[in-house]
Amino acid sequence: MLETLDRSADHMVPGIAAVTHDGDVLTVDWADGRRSRFAAIWLLDNRPDGRDDHSGQRRFDIAELPEEPKIATAALTTSGDVTVTLVPVNAALTFGVAWLRGHALDVASRAERRTGPKLWDKSLAQRLPTASYRDVAGNERALAGWLADVRDQGFALLTDVPIEPGMVLQVISLFGYVRETNYGKLFDVVSVEKPTNLAFTGLALGNHTDNPYRDPVPQLQLLHCLEQAAEGGESIVVDGFHAAERLRRESPIDFTLLTRHAVPFRYVEEGPEGLRVDLQAKVPLIELDSEGEIYAVRYNNRSAGPLDLPEETVIPFYRAYRRFGRLLHDPQATAGFRLGPGDLFIVDNRRVLHGRRGFGNGRRHLQGAYADKDSLLSKLRVLEARP
Ligand code: OGA
Ligand code: ZN
Repeated sequence: MLETLDRSADHMVPGIAAVTHDGDVLTVDWADGRRSRFAAIWLLDNRPDGRDDHSGQRRFDIAELPEEPKIATAALTTSGDVTVTLVPVNAALTFGVAWLRGHALDVASRAERRTGPKLWDKSLAQRLPTASYRDVAGNERALAGWLADVRDQGFALLTDVPIEPGMVLQVISLFGYVRETNYGKLFDVVSVEKPTNLAFTGLALGNHTDNPYRDPVPQLQLLHCLEQAAEGGESIVVDGFHAAERLRRESPIDFTLLTRHAVPFRYVEEGPEGLRVDLQAKVPLIELDSEGEIYAVRYNNRSAGPLDLPEETVIPFYRAYRRFGRLLHDPQATAGFRLGPGDLFIVDNRRVLHGRRGFGNGRRHLQGAYADKDSLLSKLRVLEARP
């Protein structure tokens, strides 16, 4: 297990030119000029002998560590690794050079480990990330390529999916698990007489993320076409992260407003005996991670409730909201395509918005389902780690 954990750092790394310490911090000067600092407490917490051999899980709790461990000695070993002795635990610990480089906390090393999204615009329509179901179902390399497109671009198409009900669940089983909701394990996107959701009509749908009224929001959405409309019904996608970055650049005050204030989303369904479903979540349209990077975008005017904001924020918030909405519908940003029977698309529902053109009163049949992204990323890491 430990081997697997360490494999990311296993490739060639520059050697260490020198190690020094001041008691609290170990300083490593790398042969390529980079300098990394490792605090004594961090080294102790990550002591190589602190983990279970089999599971790789840590065997002690942070509360058991001494408050201010110190480095007593630090030296390079003959094999180029680093041995430190820590007091008061009196432990002599050897850290592998590749492991240290792979976990170094200097700015350049941390930046190297971040894999940002590949932002896209309307030009995606000329190179839609596409694979054939026959390939991804039978070939791990093809599957890895398709999943990598979902990770990096938040969108991918699949062709040649058998035109049979339920196939959307088979596609999910290639990489993870279905996220069942009140719509079922899967749901039929068809026009019905008394729709509980405007998706179940022939109306056009503006670009949106699905189900912002759920917490957590479904992370992946798949739509499989069983029957296309005689006319209309084309799909549209837009990169919500790209639009949000544009807003951050062009109108930083608006961007901040959308990250700081939450919008209430709600979905209600009445049954014969009264209220059957009442899902509510109050979340910002743009969520940031702890590094200030965009983590999630939600946008769905169909299910947004009346804004619940401090009175003085309402007008500026609407200005920001509208500006973001316009970026999300900018023809320069959106990519269109038409799903035929046997085509399927998957979107990262925390990033990429989808919409459709109206198709009137005619027939059309898609099947949709949701899934979680952690399993997809796990599967992709597993496939990429294979030789
Ligand atoms: C949906 C949806 C798009 C379409 O069901 O969530 O957005 O093309 N459908 O019908
Ligand atoms: Zn939708």
